[in-house]
Amino acid sequence: MLTHVSITNFSQNKKRIQRIMKKIIFATGNQDKMREIREIMADMDMEICSMKEAGISLDIEENGTTFEENAQIKAKAVAACTKDIVLADDSGLEVDYLNKEPGVYSARYLGEDTSYDIKNQAILDRLKGVPKEQRTARFVCAIAAVLPDGKTLVTRETIEGYIGECPAGENGFGYDPIFYVDEYHCSTAELTEEQKNEISHRGKALRSMKKLLHEYGF
Ligand code: IMP
Repeated sequence: MLTHVSITNFSQNKKRIQRIMKKIIFATGNQDKMREIREIMADMDMEICSMKEAGISLDIEENGTTFEENAQIKAKAVAACTKDIVLADDSGLEVDYLNKEPGVYSARYLGEDTSYDIKNQAILDRLKGVPKEQRTARFVCAIAAVLPDGKTLVTRETIEGYIGECPAGENGFGYDPIFYVDEYHCSTAELTEEQKNEISHRGKALRSMKKLLHEYGF
């Protein structure tokens, strides 16, 4: 009987805590990103929801000219539908020799529906004969947060590397097979998920945002 009372109290308390616990809504439909943010923010005592889990469905046009702008456009659009904290990210690949292309157009480069085999080969072709020291590139990630009082916070982080001579690796996604990091002497498609999250633009930008949210009392 005593056990029953304890369990009842525990479950009542849990419900009360859940009611006062702040929620973070991450403006993405991408399950990999959701897993990464849940892992990184796990110790924040915040409920982390995707847009879908929060019951928000929006088609947002990313028409900014920088990663920071696009992340804020997404976060603000979702924040207009909720009083919870909203986070959104925007990321992409900058190749120095190509004047930082594809940049904010990374997903749309050569058309949204074009396969990454084709996109990656096109970049390799444009860099044919270019020596390693001029093949520098980076993945960039900006994270924007809109707080319940409307204040906007933004973090931006990169992972520096270079475009290899040919694609390698089966892990990751997008431009990973042609993006090489000196630290591991391989492409980011050859790293495990844990290795990549530790050094990636998104992992670093999420951890910076977590620090910033802490400074704002969350
Ligand atoms: P978004 O931030 O989800 O809009 O992603 C933009 C695009 O940037 C992706 O579709 C990929 O083409 C590219 N991208 C961003 N991060 C990565 C990464 O970690 N690996 C490979 N490609 C990436």
